[in-house]
Amino acid sequence: MTSIHRLGRDAYVGQHWFLRETTELFRHAWCFVGTTRDFKEPGDYKTLDAGAFPLAVVRNRDGVLRAVHNFCRHRGATLFDGEAGNIGKSIVCPYHRWTYGLDGELRGVPDKETCFPDLDRSKLGLRTASLGVFKELVFANPDPSADFDDWITPVVDQAWPHDLFAADVREACSLTYEVKCNWKVFVENAIDGYHLAYLHEQTLGGPSPDKNIWKQAGDHMIWYANEDGVRHRLPKKIRDENGSVGTIKSAERTGYGGVYFLFPQTLIVPTPYGLSLTSVKPMTPNTSRLAIRHWVGPWQALDERKHIPGYDRKTGIISSDNWTQHPLETGDFQTEDVWICEKVQRGLNSPAFEAGPLSRGVGAEDPINWFHHSLLTKLQKQD
Ligand code: FES
Ligand SMILES: [Fe+2]
Repeated sequence: MTSIHRLGRDAYVGQHWFLRETTELFRHAWCFVGTTRDFKEPGDYKTLDAGAFPLAVVRNRDGVLRAVHNFCRHRGATLFDGEAGNIGKSIVCPYHRWTYGLDGELRGVPDKETCFPDLDRSKLGLRTASLGVFKELVFANPDPSADFDDWITPVVDQAWPHDLFAADVREACSLTYEVKCNWKVFVENAIDGYHLAYLHEQTLGGPSPDKNIWKQAGDHMIWYANEDGVRHRLPKKIRDENGSVGTIKSAERTGYGGVYFLFPQTLIVPTPYGLSLTSVKPMTPNTSRLAIRHWVGPWQALDERKHIPGYDRKTGIISSDNWTQHPLETGDFQTEDVWICEKVQRGLNSPAFEAGPLSRGVGAEDPINWFHHSLLTKLQKQD
């Protein structure tokens, strides 16, 4: 028996759907920001876009992390620039120099007596967003009353593969992919157990749907493969001078799980040799951005970007526009995934497209069904 694909073509190519998701779904969505180590000093900040909502997380003088909406309460200019930095002792808007403390309170308004005699500064602090930390991973949510425990609790008791701050784990370079597909096409591909043995025949080579299992944990999903189902290809670079492989000790201790999908846009993929965390960001109905952070084990090189098909040294962006070889000849499964997602998006854009059936099974396409269910439930709550 098969199940019905619940989302129609419009959900992947339509502007109306896109606006609904980036405003209504992401208004209450937990998005990955960084690790606690990204915020060492008071004033250290990171920015993120949670769908349509620009946010920032900043460390205040007491060492406390706060999430705020990244816009000035006067006329709306964004206050935190770039991806990360240090804002200093206070947050000064460059437009008319309204000044906020690191706690978000509005402290100073130039020419207040002349220009704003009645203004009540206590009502115009930065808009608060929510913040949560799990295993040193920092998440933010535009909704000031969002409940982090409610969101994360379903995965708390699951086996967790790596301690990111362990002595034998090092952070490697970050990667940015620009992918020509709707953000859900990429997510659905990442939680699709049906394609592994076919699209990735030359790279992952499986497992087939009967050898892997997706488990639901709230709106999240965790993928495990049974022993003979896993075939991790060893990156050449992780061998030491004696030819032996460096694995991460905490991974040896706890096993390495497979894929953790934290609804709606975070993917964590541990292997015995490292861990990657991907934020899937909606850009337009037809394009997405993947922001990827990597942590690697003892022997692996920290910067392998030049080996990634489509990497542009000047911009630092990875894109199919720069491919010089057929994706299926690259030996890189991520390139195979990007290739297929872009092909799917081109097909979805046909006005003649109608959604086909989804294969049944926790090792096949059930997770896509669960994802649609969570997405639709959250959107309907907003209606
Ligand atoms: S917009 Fe920030 S001070 Fe005017
Ligand atoms: Fe894949």
